[in-house]
Amino acid sequence: MRIIIGSDHAGFDQKQRLAAYLADEGHDVRDVGAFSETDSVDYPDFALAVARGVANGEAERGVLVCGTGIGMAIAANKVAGVRAANATDPEFAKLARQHNDANVITVSGRFVPVQTNEAILDAFLGTPFEGGRHSRRIGKIAAAER
Ligand code: RB5
Repeated sequence: MRIIIGSDHAGFDQKQRLAAYLADEGHDVRDVGAFSETDSVDYPDFALAVARGVANGEAERGVLVCGTGIGMAIAANKVAGVRAANATDPEFAKLARQHNDANVITVSGRFVPVQTNEAILDAFLGTPFEGGRHSRRIGKIAAAER
């Protein structure tokens, strides 16, 4: 799968590890930065780069890492067509796919261990959207973007 990944300085270390994990699993991973743990940067810059890459079809899914994952989700969801979910548990990532058709996942680089975030990515990438009644609800979100 084509995946675009980004982080701020707080998510840099885990972003490096998660990008390598995804590449090892055979995914085509594009890293938009950040490229340092010591230079303080602004998470919206990276959230918007990843979200726009997903919205324009450059990648099928996006992954974002910051201190909590919260700011990344808030920023990414400003881009039309993006449904970003902040997950701290694999079950939430699974439900974000089944019910919400999430196309971007945001995770915490500071408060969630990398092994848990790997399991979150497995659930995010491996779970299909259920459709049905959930499609109607997704449609109402899309209508609010117009
Ligand atoms: C950076 O200190 C921190 O605010 C950021 O990584 C993130 O947690 C924001 O939501």
